[in-house]
Amino acid sequence: MCLVQARNLIKRYTADGPNAVDDVSFEIYDGEIFSLLGPNGAGKTTIISMLSTLLKPTGGTATVNGHDIRTQAMAVRRSIGVVPQELALYAELSAAENLRFWGEMRGLGGAALGGEIKEKLALMDLTERARDRVETFSGGMKRRLNLAIGLLGNPPLIMLDEPTVAIDPQSRRYILDYVKALNQKGTSILYTTHYMEEAQELSHRIGIIDHGKLITLGTLQELKQLVGEHEMLKLQLYQSEGGQTLTEAVGEIKGLHRASANDGEVTLNVDAAEEALPEVLSKASELGLSIRNIEIREPNLETVFLHLTGRALRD
Ligand SMILES: Nc1ncnc2c1ncn2[C@@H]1O[C@H](COP(=O)(O)OP(=O)(O)O)[C@@H](O)[C@H]1O
Ligand SMILES: [Mg+2]
Repeated sequence: MCLVQARNLIKRYTADGPNAVDDVSFEIYDGEIFSLLGPNGAGKTTIISMLSTLLKPTGGTATVNGHDIRTQAMAVRRSIGVVPQELALYAELSAAENLRFWGEMRGLGGAALGGEIKEKLALMDLTERARDRVETFSGGMKRRLNLAIGLLGNPPLIMLDEPTVAIDPQSRRYILDYVKALNQKGTSILYTTHYMEEAQELSHRIGIIDHGKLITLGTLQELKQLVGEHEMLKLQLYQSEGGQTLTEAVGEIKGLHRASANDGEVTLNVDAAEEALPEVLSKASELGLSIRNIEIREPNLETVFLHLTGRALRD
C-alpha cells in the first residue's frame, strides 16, 4: 500500500524566484523508512512542509494516507506525526505539559492522553525529567521530546525533518535506534538528513535531492550500482604522462572492470582493491613510474552523490 504519493511537486517561494522544490515525485510504501538525503537548501524541509500541509504547493500534488494535501488538509494532519526541524516546544512548560498541550491540539484527551504521555516520556527516556521546564533541557533532550510529541496518537506515518542535527552523540544514537524500532513495529517513516551515514543505516529506499530536484531514488544497493558496485583504487603518479601507460599495462588484472587515466591520476574500478594493489604496484615499478599517493574508496552514498552532481555532499 502506498502511504505517500507525491506527484510533480513544485514550490516557488517568490513569483520570479527559483523552484525550491522542482518537480518532485516519489512514493512511500507501507512499512518503509524512506529518506530524503541532500545538502542544506536542497528542499527537504519544503517537501515535508507541503506533505504535512503547512505550505501549499505551487504545482503538483500529493496524497498522504489517501488524503489529498490540497483539498483534505485536516485529514492529512490527523493521519500523520510530524517532527519539525525547528523545535516546537514551550520553554516555560514542563515536558509533560508540552506533550499535553500538543496532544490536545491534535484532538487527543482524557485518560488515554495521560497514559500516552507517560508512555512516550518513558520511550524517550525522559520520565525523570517529566516535570522539569523544557528551558532546563539539553539540545538532545529537546529533540527527544519533540520526537515524543510527533508520536502522540501513534500515527501510521511519521515525518522526521533532520532530527539529529546539532545534538550529542548519545541522543543521536537514541533517536536512530528508536526510529528503527518504531519502524519494526510497523510505523512508516519519512526521514530527511544531510548525513549519508544515517540514510545508509536507516533507509529501505533513499531519494537524493539537490537544488530542489530529486536526482535519483532507490535502495542503497541500487544507488551503489549507479557508480558501479566496485571498489575504486586511485593512484597518483609523479609522472603525469605515465597514467595512460599504466592504465594499458594493468588491463589484464583480475577483477578489473574499468581503468581510466587523467594525466598522472589513474582510476581503477575493481572487485577488491586490496587484491589488485600488489599487481598494480609491480606494473608501475616495471614501467619505472613512481607513486605519489594511493587512495581506496568503497562505494557509498557520498560517491553516488559525487558521481551524480560532481560535488561532495559534505560541502
Ligand atoms: N520561507 C522561505 N522563503 C524563501 N525561500 C525559502 C524559504 N524557505 C526555504 N527557502 C529556500 O528554499 C530552498 C530549500 O530550502 P529548504 O527546504 O529549507 O532546504 P533543506 O531543508 O533541504 O535545507 C533554499 O534555497 C531556501 O533558501
Ligand atoms: Mg531543512
